Amino acid sequence: MIPISKVVAGEVPEGDEVETRGWVWRTRSSGGIAFPILRDSTGVLQVTVKKGNLPDAQFDDSVKALVESSVIVKGKAHKDKRAPGGWEIQATEFKVVGFAQPFPITKDQSEEWLRENRHLWIRSRKMTAIMKVRHTVVGAIHQFFRERGYYEFDPPILQPNQCEGGSTLFEVKFYDQKTYLSQTWQLYAEAGIFALEKIYDMAPTFRAEKSKTSRHLCEFWMAEMEAAWMDLHECTEVAKEEVRFIVQKVLESNRPELELLGRDVSRLDACLKKPFPTITYTEALELIRKDGIELEWGRDLRTNEEEAIMKHFDTPVVVTHYPKAIMAFYKPVDPEAKASGPVAKCFDMLAPEGGVEIVGGSERDTSIEALRECLERDGENPENYQFYIDLRLYGSVPHSGYGLGVERVIGWICGLDNIKDAIAFPRTGTRFTP
Ligand code: 4AD
Ligand code: MG
Repeated sequence: MIPISKVVAGEVPEGDEVETRGWVWRTRSSGGIAFPILRDSTGVLQVTVKKGNLPDAQFDDSVKALVESSVIVKGKAHKDKRAPGGWEIQATEFKVVGFAQPFPITKDQSEEWLRENRHLWIRSRKMTAIMKVRHTVVGAIHQFFRERGYYEFDPPILQPNQCEGGSTLFEVKFYDQKTYLSQTWQLYAEAGIFALEKIYDMAPTFRAEKSKTSRHLCEFWMAEMEAAWMDLHECTEVAKEEVRFIVQKVLESNRPELELLGRDVSRLDACLKKPFPTITYTEALELIRKDGIELEWGRDLRTNEEEAIMKHFDTPVVVTHYPKAIMAFYKPVDPEAKASGPVAKCFDMLAPEGGVEIVGGSERDTSIEALRECLERDGENPENYQFYIDLRLYGSVPHSGYGLGVERVIGWICGLDNIKDAIAFPRTGTRFTP
């Protein structure tokens, strides 16, 4: 069996006999000739089936085979300018393995219909291309950290506490007690660094997001890192290097997919050529004030502000030093920073072309007092975080880490309108099927 992409790439000499297989992607026929176009995981290829060149029953089947029927075809490879990809097979054998019912997905269907039929929609050329990019992104993340001496460290998914705010926790019954699905690996990663120093992972992450937006999933994959002895600045530089590495790997492996998705690849090339800037939250507010967008110092950046900031840049940008008061309990105050109020040693990375937050991270507070105070501020009982506080008692070290939203990065790289398409079976505030 020869993959379709090899035929289309001209790797089979003109007139040579080939056998290939796949699914009918498009088809038309008239009189004694049929033109099914087959697709497999590698590409699409036209087949010309002429009555008389193969048994009549097989010709009849080729006419009857509706879109998505699975077939095995034998025939000669021919150059044909009119065929998609410039090659076709002239069939001498056409075996239908599984006849398809009329396919429920046809042109111009609503997003909702496509989500309802997600199990069928993932075979589309668009979804196939995105899933190939995803494959590259995930592989690149593993490669990036492993090549730099990070160990893979797996956290529990059932966790007793919040880390990123109680309002987005998914509660799960744990026999007669309750527990939560992981919002982040962080509290456990901070334990892991005392053994392995530099660690990373990529894991399913759960947040019962209240807002329905094009950038939020309830179940997504986060790639996180944590390192002992690392300060905020070093941590932001690792994040920049990682994102650049991912973009580079996608550009090396997935140009045909990006083209199929209609992505302007030159926008990504820029990310490889220029350094990613770092600015502070306070500088970001000043930048957008010049555009007439006012945000009171102390308030968190929203989509609107993030979008406005990123109109000024064509690479990702790291924004540091957000107001301490609106940050998660573990982000420490930076005593040296000058701003209108206390700010934290933390950062987000925003992507160009829309300003989506793709990375969030920080140094971690090592002060037990500060941690207890902030947990109480958030309505938490510090006693429930004893294991985490313990880590500050036995050879505490400065340390930092961040999490990268895998679907957010894929969405940006592929130029998707909605990150739901960055994952095969999205879970959102309104859908957990199919
Ligand atoms: O900024 P977040 O909430 O940071 C943390 O969870 C830290 N504990 C990570 C760490 O320091 N180890 O989430 C990290 C990233 C965000 O920047 C975003 O890219 C992604 O995870 N993210 C989401 N992606 C899709 N859907 C959601 N609902 C997301 N929430 C966060
Ligand atoms: Mg964040």
